[in-house]
Amino acid sequence: MRGSNLLGFSGFRRILLFALALCVFSSTGSGAVFAAEQGEMKRGILIAAFGSSVPEGQAAIAAVETAVRRAFPDTEIRVAYTSRIIMRKIASEQGRVIDEPAIALAKMAYEGFTDVAVLSTHVIPGAEYQDLEAVVNGFKVMNESGTKAGFERISLSKPLLSNAMDFERLAQSLLAAYASEARGGAVVFVGHGTHHFSDAAYSALQIALWRESPNFFVGTIEGLPSYDDVLAQLKKTRNKRVTLVPAMLVAGDHAYNDIGGSEAESWKSLLAGEGYETSARFQGLGQLEAVQRLLVDKLREAWSE
Ligand code: CO
Repeated sequence: MRGSNLLGFSGFRRILLFALALCVFSSTGSGAVFAAEQGEMKRGILIAAFGSSVPEGQAAIAAVETAVRRAFPDTEIRVAYTSRIIMRKIASEQGRVIDEPAIALAKMAYEGFTDVAVLSTHVIPGAEYQDLEAVVNGFKVMNESGTKAGFERISLSKPLLSNAMDFERLAQSLLAAYASEARGGAVVFVGHGTHHFSDAAYSALQIALWRESPNFFVGTIEGLPSYDDVLAQLKKTRNKRVTLVPAMLVAGDHAYNDIGGSEAESWKSLLAGEGYETSARFQGLGQLEAVQRLLVDKLREAWSE
């Protein structure tokens, strides 16, 4: 009978399917909302990067993402940017929406992830890392306060330069990656630099490099060692050739303008003005395999905490 069939099994099934479809479309995931309720563990990784609005910079973030995917093939991996300026620029120019960590984590919690590790791609534990830490801690507090809004477990990996061993390890990676540039010339790594106390990490990296070779220098755009510090040290050597390399996760805006750009104020132009034969490499730290391994190790450490 047609009338009863509407309320019968197939009719009910149609309504149920419709309701399920609504759930799937209203969440950004694939119906995973139910996973946590069934007591299953659902692991996820969120890669947090400052971000970059240029394809060259995005390539370094993509390279890190690929390395993490290779290391954790069965884990869902997402990427968030911390720079709102960059996110807005990408949204308006490319129509692509990238989430900031708090939003990305809220979505993951909503989709039923239970165990999440956040990968910090910061070079030093500065103000930006602390901001990310505050967001992660917020999600920790949610769980500890007994709400279902957070995760059962959430951890955050340490920045590239955060303990004594890191300086040695990053120095070795840089020495190996730029060995040919340092033959008969100087290699100057230029970090971002900051007013934050963690800026001291760049000077510690310099010491670690000098232990191995007098041809490697470290400077920063906004902190210490400054351009003048690097120039003073360079002048003590016989180097006539200088290769500039960004000591940042990505080779983006700073690399193409302040470091290796052709404008008068770039490090490349300033050093050329001092009589050095200058060139620049546009490869972010994230594009070095050794640095990718370092990041993956930091992520493993965070997960085993
Ligand atoms: Co900057």
